[in-house]
Amino acid sequence: MAWVTYREGAAYGEEISFHELAARFGTPTYIYSAQQVQESLGLLGRAFADLPVQVFYAVKANANGALLRLLRRAGIGAEVVSGGELVRARKAGFPPHQIVFTGVGKTSQEIGLALEQGIRALIVESLPELGEVARVARNRGVQAPVGLRVNPALDPNTHPHLATGKGGSKFGLELSQVEQALAYIRSDSSVSLVGFHLHLGSQIEQVALYRVAWELLLDLWQLAQRRELNPQFLDLGGGFAVPYLAGSPFPLEELAALLRGRVPEGCVVLVEPGRFIVAEAGVLLTRVLYVKEVHGRTLVVVDAGMNDFLRPALYGARHPIWPVKRRPGSPRRVDLVGPVCENADLLAQEVELPPLVSGDLLVVGKAGAYGFAMSSQYNSRPRPAEVLLLEGEAYLVRERETVTDLWHKEEVPPCLAG
Ligand code: LLP
Repeated sequence: MAWVTYREGAAYGEEISFHELAARFGTPTYIYSAQQVQESLGLLGRAFADLPVQVFYAVKANANGALLRLLRRAGIGAEVVSGGELVRARKAGFPPHQIVFTGVGKTSQEIGLALEQGIRALIVESLPELGEVARVARNRGVQAPVGLRVNPALDPNTHPHLATGKGGSKFGLELSQVEQALAYIRSDSSVSLVGFHLHLGSQIEQVALYRVAWELLLDLWQLAQRRELNPQFLDLGGGFAVPYLAGSPFPLEELAALLRGRVPEGCVVLVEPGRFIVAEAGVLLTRVLYVKEVHGRTLVVVDAGMNDFLRPALYGARHPIWPVKRRPGSPRRVDLVGPVCENADLLAQEVELPPLVSGDLLVVGKAGAYGFAMSSQYNSRPRPAEVLLLEGEAYLVRERETVTDLWHKEEVPPCLAG
C-alpha cells in the first residue's frame, strides 16, 4: 500500500493529508486511491501479457460508480451477480460482451435483462436454472449464451464463509450433473454453451489449488468437444489473496506459468478477481470518540462500526490500523470498537497503537474490497461517504447518507400518520 505514507509523523493518502480529508469530508469515510487500483491492474496485465487471459472484475467487491468507470477505462470486463450489478456495470460503460453474470438465484427478470443486454454469458449454476434460461430465451426468440459453473469440491484453506468452491456449498453444478446439462444444451436451441466456470472461494493463497482447478476445466473442455459443443472460454473465477497484515502478494506469475502452453486452441481464459484489484486501494478513515478502560482492557471507541465495515465481525478479519498522527509515548495494546449495539462490533482486536486521545484519527487499511459494499444502516446509522483520490485531487464519489435517508421509501398508514 505505497499510497499511504507518513510525513513528519502524519499520514497521507497519495499527496493529501488524512487530516485534511477528515476536515473536508467528515468521518467515517472510505478513501480510495486510483493510483493503487492502476498498480494492481498493472500487475495483472503484466503477469498475463503473453496469454489469452481476460480479467473480469468482481463488481461485488466494490460497486462504486467512479471506481467502476476507472476500471472500465482500463479495458477490463465485469463479473456481476445481480440485475443491480448488471445495470451498474452497463451504466459505467462496460460493454455487454465484457460482462458475465454468475449467481445461484437469478430471477426470470434478471435473466431477461441479461438477454436483452446481450451479455457475454449467463453462468448457470443448476439444471432448473438452465431450464429457466432456455424458457426465457425461447419466449424472447433469442439464443442464450450459457456458461456452466461447476462446484470443484476442493477445500481451500480459507475462512468457512469464503470457501464457496467446497463440496456441499450451494454454488454450481455437481460434476456428475454436467453430462445432463450438456445433453440438455444439445437438445434445446434456445441455449448455447459458451464456457465453463468455477470459483474456488476467496482469499486463496495457494496456486496449487488453481492447478487442480485448471485440470478440471481442461477435462470439461475436452468433454464438450466430444459432445460436439464448442465453448469459447474457461473461467477460473477469482479469489486471489491479499496479504492483509503480513505475507507476500498473490503469486500471479505462478498462476500464469501454470497456464502457459496449456490453453487449448481457440480458448480464452477468464479470471474474476475482486479483492486483488480494490482491497489495497481503499481505507476507512475513522475518528476516536473515547478511550475507556474496562476489566483490564483498553477500548478505543471509534465512530465507525460493524455497519460501516463488517469484515472483522463477520469473518474475524484482521486489518492494519494506522494512526493518522503518531503521538510520542509507548504503544499500548488496545481493542478498537464501534458504536453499534453488538458485542461483535470490533474493528480490531489486540492491536498495538501509540497513545490515542478523543478526536484522533485512525485509518483501517486494505478496506477497499467488501467494505462499503457490505455496509448497512443497522442501528439507524447513515452509511459513510466515499472519496476517490485521482490525479492529485480528492473527489466525493458518494455523499454520506443523512438521517432522512433512513426512512426513504418508508410509508406510514394514514391512521398512524401525525
Ligand atoms: N467470482 C465469483 C463467482 C465470486 O463469487 C467471487 C466472490 C469473486 C469472483 C471474487 O472473489 P475475490 O477475488 O474478491 O476473492 N465478503 C467476503 C468475500 C465474499 C466473496 C464472494 N464471492 C469478504 O469480505 O472477504
